[in-house]
Amino acid sequence: MTISRRTVIATGLAAGAGALSLPLLGGCEKRSSGIKVGVMLPFTGTYAQLGEQILAGFRLAVAEAGGQVGGREISTIIVDDESDPGKAPENANRLINAQGADLLLGSVHSGVLAGMVKVVRESGTILVCPNAGAASATGAMCAPNIFRASFSNWQPAFPMGKVAFDRGCRTAVTMAWNYGAGEESVGAFEESFAAAGGSLLKRIMVPFPNVEFQAHLTEIAALKPDCVFVFFAGAGALKFVKDWAAAGLKGRVRLLSTGFITEGVLKDQGADAEGILTTLHYADALQTPENLRFRAAFREAAKREADVYSVQGYDAGQLMLKGLAAVNGDASQRPAMIAAMEKAEIVSPRGRFTLSAAHNPVQDIYLREVQGGKEVVLGVAHAALSDPARGCRMA
Ligand code: BEZ
Repeated sequence: MTISRRTVIATGLAAGAGALSLPLLGGCEKRSSGIKVGVMLPFTGTYAQLGEQILAGFRLAVAEAGGQVGGREISTIIVDDESDPGKAPENANRLINAQGADLLLGSVHSGVLAGMVKVVRESGTILVCPNAGAASATGAMCAPNIFRASFSNWQPAFPMGKVAFDRGCRTAVTMAWNYGAGEESVGAFEESFAAAGGSLLKRIMVPFPNVEFQAHLTEIAALKPDCVFVFFAGAGALKFVKDWAAAGLKGRVRLLSTGFITEGVLKDQGADAEGILTTLHYADALQTPENLRFRAAFREAAKREADVYSVQGYDAGQLMLKGLAAVNGDASQRPAMIAAMEKAEIVSPRGRFTLSAAHNPVQDIYLREVQGGKEVVLGVAHAALSDPARGCRMA
């Protein structure tokens, strides 16, 4: 399904996909007795595929619950947030105040999440984040009604600094898109790499969502680091890995990243991705009953393969459903929902996880390597890793 810019799609999840398409409304709407989830995800631009995967995972979780809680049907109001932080507060406000959303789900881009956080800190609406790793959401801007079912940007990147040093990397260059997720990812790698004894030669930042990498790759070749740690995702990650190989760096300099560099794009990266070492809270290849069952159910429902984004959408759905089940579907009972969500143990395809006091998953971070076109799990780089939640004071 392709969702056009600035379009809202109202979908009865119990009834299946694509029920009705209508423009964003400016006035007030009557609240129904059903449960309305306002969804803000990107369906255009470099993160479009991530948005589609998250939505499909969320839909699967709701469908497995029968599309309702306590007899109240769950529906979604969907906005293409275009990964544009500037539009996020307006989009979130309209979902809550004009469209009558009871809960919010979103987003992919850290800057968009920051805009949603501002709005729900005012309105008290329960927000579940299915991807964006902005530290502030479960750090300085944490709040009882803000939950994350994915990761903080620090979490998957931090373990890689020690892994890199232990594998002989002594000098590194970091490179990322110049916005919150990029800064926080390379910052976390640099923190643990320096603590292990490594030296950073240079940090290179590229405007988001620019994919003109060539000049930077030439500079990296001249710097001759032992390893390079990057943050790129979605369509940008596909382009980066292709450019890396075309620049002749593959096999000469060790390429390290969080798993976002290959998630959802590994097949298209082909042989150029061989040997990339990543850390992430998920891997397709996990041989647990939960992951095997989830991947088969996702394939059946979405007619494509699952990835970390679909897992996060699924788990965001599971977390919301735990809250709704505690109040028999009455989403107006926020304190009881929040209490249930805080205590939740999520049986996830990534492995079981609970939430920290700041409402961020406490989870294992896997070490993975691309071998023969597949992500092979080499082990757990850091077990039960909790984000430091710097600056979080829960009211
Ligand atoms: C972020 O903006 O937080 C983000 C986007 C894509 C993948 C991972 C993180």
